[in-house]
Amino acid sequence: MAEIRNAAESMDEALALLKAGEIVAIPTETVYGLAGDATNGAAVAKIFEAKGRPRFNPLIAHVATMAMAEEIAEFDQLSRKLAEKFWPGPLTLVLPLKPGGAIHPLVTAGLDTIALRMPRGFGARLIERLGRPLAAPSANSSGRISPTTAAAVADDLCDRIRLVVDGGATSVGLESTIVKVEDGKLRLLRPGGIAAGELEAAAGAALLRGAKNGVEAPGMLASHYAPGALVRINAEDVAAGEALLAFGPERARNAEGAVAVLNLSETGDLREAASNLFSHLQALDRSGAKMIAVEPIPYEGLGEAINDRLSRAAAPRDSGASYK
Ligand code: TXA
Ligand code: MG
Repeated sequence: MAEIRNAAESMDEALALLKAGEIVAIPTETVYGLAGDATNGAAVAKIFEAKGRPRFNPLIAHVATMAMAEEIAEFDQLSRKLAEKFWPGPLTLVLPLKPGGAIHPLVTAGLDTIALRMPRGFGARLIERLGRPLAAPSANSSGRISPTTAAAVADDLCDRIRLVVDGGATSVGLESTIVKVEDGKLRLLRPGGIAAGELEAAAGAALLRGAKNGVEAPGMLASHYAPGALVRINAEDVAAGEALLAFGPERARNAEGAVAVLNLSETGDLREAASNLFSHLQALDRSGAKMIAVEPIPYEGLGEAINDRLSRAAAPRDSGASYK
């Protein structure tokens, strides 16, 4: 079983493990990450192995400073502007990789682009002390829900990792928003912790949506983020034996018959809902219900990313099974 240790007292241990080429689960503001030295191929291979993640699915490299980012990737004007505005924070930029850099090719799955993010808090301090970027996908088995608490990481990855650094529940609760600049225009590759509208305001133009050539962020395949129970979205009523994931002050029909009920936000606050999404799905999964009915959630602001994750959780499992 992985050891869970408080962030305040585990910096040195985490650092020693990373220097030795080991992997460590760490808190970030979005979700917990499974981190390894991005310049060490053996460490990166351990991340793929622990998650059971296909090697064609590239990882995000996390940096502590703009100088570290510029050593790794070429920044165009718009990407630099977004980095200045939203870093550190829940934004990932896909950028052309600088040739001859120190990032191990396993991180990018051989692509000539790299996904870069500057996290807040413990992760940033750890990267600064290590002096090298950290490759870190979400700290869950491939195809499962991203963890927002140290306990969720330990439950899922168990003896596949040694240390989980506990920084409490993550504040954002959803993975970062991933964007890429193409010919001066901004494309949204994954909705996430920064709402599309905020990026459009900063970029001064509407976002392009979806990948240009099919699946561009390979982790965006349909069935992903799946809990054990089946998920039914936009539920107007609750059937016998179902658990209910509620949102806002008004209940779906027959809500009183649900096996278990959790509300993402009683007041209908989308930020609060985002931070509760994965832990509530996991808790309802543990209720033993075979189906989780989810009340409709508006598509505005962070609602886009919430609906994105829910529709993946609700997608037919067969189509994505080979991907897990
Ligand atoms: O909030 C987050 O982003 C968390 C924390 C730990 O930082 N990380 C995270 O990583 O969600 P992961 O590996 O679960 O998701 C990264 C996504 C994947 O869908 C991957 O395919 C995509 O980023 N990605 C990575 N490199 C890419 C690239 N060069 N081009 C397009 N997509 C890329
Ligand atoms: Mg993930």
